[in-house]
Amino acid sequence: MNAEQLRQYLEYFRDLGITHITAPDASQLAAISAAPPVPEAVRPAAAPVAPIATPPPIVAAPVPMKTPVNDLVLPTLAPEGDTLARIREEIGDCKRCRLCEARKSIVFGSGNEKARLVFVGEGPGADEDAQGVPFVGRAGQLLTAMIDGTAAKDSLPLRREDCYICNVVKCRPPDNRTPLPDEMEICGQFLYRQLMTLQPKAICALGSTAARALLNTKEGVTKMRGRWQRWNGIPLMVTYHPSYLLRAYNVEAKKEAWTDLRKLFHFVLDDSKVHPE
Ligand code: URA
Repeated sequence: MNAEQLRQYLEYFRDLGITHITAPDASQLAAISAAPPVPEAVRPAAAPVAPIATPPPIVAAPVPMKTPVNDLVLPTLAPEGDTLARIREEIGDCKRCRLCEARKSIVFGSGNEKARLVFVGEGPGADEDAQGVPFVGRAGQLLTAMIDGTAAKDSLPLRREDCYICNVVKCRPPDNRTPLPDEMEICGQFLYRQLMTLQPKAICALGSTAARALLNTKEGVTKMRGRWQRWNGIPLMVTYHPSYLLRAYNVEAKKEAWTDLRKLFHFVLDDSKVHPE
């Protein structure tokens, strides 16, 4: 099945009001396989049925967000002609999860809407909540220095304002705690649409929450960083979150993050390269 067929297929289910496909859990699977076969004699005779166009079997769809253990959450499909303005409008004065209770602002995202590179962080902190702009606090200043400094060192024409920056969740989690799975899932649909709309040449996932949201993995950043992965066909690289790098002892991690950014920048600015490696 190609991507367009898959899209139509998922739309078909969505139009039926089906947004989740529940996979049997381990005990149900065991019960199914352990069940004795139905004897021939008690099976109802098969009625002649007219051939109907049955949809193809469900295949593993590209799941952008965290998948609960026994529940395949279908990706929210980006509507035709989606735009950032429309996504922001649909978010509205969002009350879809508990994060609305203490937030001052919804931090949607900022930067160049034609960016070749999108950075995805975890969620707004206090400064971002106050200003309504992502990555403006201490971690944000480090991110800016990393982008501008790394590019300048290699004489690459790239600055923070050339990139687009957003987060997995758009409202500040209380006490800067890690967003909970349901918060990531609810807000993740908007991140998914932002990325689908932006269609950058590459995505940089900053830290484990962004990596988990986009790659549906629990692997640690140390293991994942610096390797090319894909999100819906778009090359993606995980690197350390700047907050982690702000801790004085993370000197080695800083060097690694700089290496990751160099690799990313050279790829996004090299027009001859369609594939990262
Ligand atoms: N940390 C994040 O993950 N995002 C921000 O916007 C700021 C700090």
